[in-house]
Amino acid sequence: MIAAIPQFLLERERDRNESTRGGYAAYAPHRARQMALLRGRGGERLAVLGAGNCNDLELSTLAESFRELHLFDLDAQALDSAWCRQSNAVKRACSLHPCDLTGVGSLLEGWKAEPPEPLAAQLAAWTQLSALAAEVGEFDTVLSSCLLSQVAIDLRDYFGLVPALNSALLAAIGGHVMLAAALTKPGGAVLVTSDCITSRYPIREEAQARGALNAILHLASQGAAFPGTDPGLVASLLASAEFSRPELKDAWIWDVGPQSYLVYALEAARHP
Ligand SMILES: C[S@@+](CC[C@H](N)C(=O)[O-])C[C@H]1O[C@@H](n2cnc3c(N)ncnc32)[C@H](O)[C@@H]1O
Repeated sequence: MIAAIPQFLLERERDRNESTRGGYAAYAPHRARQMALLRGRGGERLAVLGAGNCNDLELSTLAESFRELHLFDLDAQALDSAWCRQSNAVKRACSLHPCDLTGVGSLLEGWKAEPPEPLAAQLAAWTQLSALAAEVGEFDTVLSSCLLSQVAIDLRDYFGLVPALNSALLAAIGGHVMLAAALTKPGGAVLVTSDCITSRYPIREEAQARGALNAILHLASQGAAFPGTDPGLVASLLASAEFSRPELKDAWIWDVGPQSYLVYALEAARHP
């Protein structure tokens, strides 16, 4: 149920996803990196958070390794159109979940009128997300797929630079990462990929000089990462006694139209 999400956010994501809907071919290098992260994994159930147009995954390949593919996104139209492109066998494996994956969507209008305390905001977001987690169950593998930066940008543009933004952003990012972890079954793994630094910074030069992973760490240490996407922050949100220490598995440059982004992949395994 996403009726209470501000129209502003829904329209933004729909517009963005519409603009990249025909981009499956252009996503090939990025998709290859994402698929490499999932290679060798399998089991009953895969959850993709921020699945959108599914340009960044080969669902047909994933359907050979997982019996069920669960695709989550705010944008129901993007999910529907991704589903329509698939073969009948893949369609049967897919379940679509149009929903807010931050827990803050339905709270934003109230927070604009009355800025929340950070802790209250986190608790309120988690109350929404824990209901979703209970409804959809646990998964062998959970992939949060380049959603965090969108959340950060959407919230910045919704609130502007006011104190409520910080509370909302922490609640949204923290809630989303906690959700990804909560959906991971014992013995399973959670992966978070995130674009984090734009080509307004010298990402190519730094990646060439240091490698993409070190370029991210270097530029992020200088404050270049989108708020809420710094890999150190996301790793700290994922860290828990139930999981192995979050590990940076890969990093690369993702070219999307005229823009490029440094992307990283973090992984943590849930202890059996
Ligand atoms: C950059 S896209 C990821 C690429 C996508 N997997 C694809 O291949 O098209 C980020 C996705 O996150 C979704 N998203 C943004 N904010 C969201 C939220 N609060 N809840 C759920 N999904 C959200 C957007 O609709 C978009 O599809």
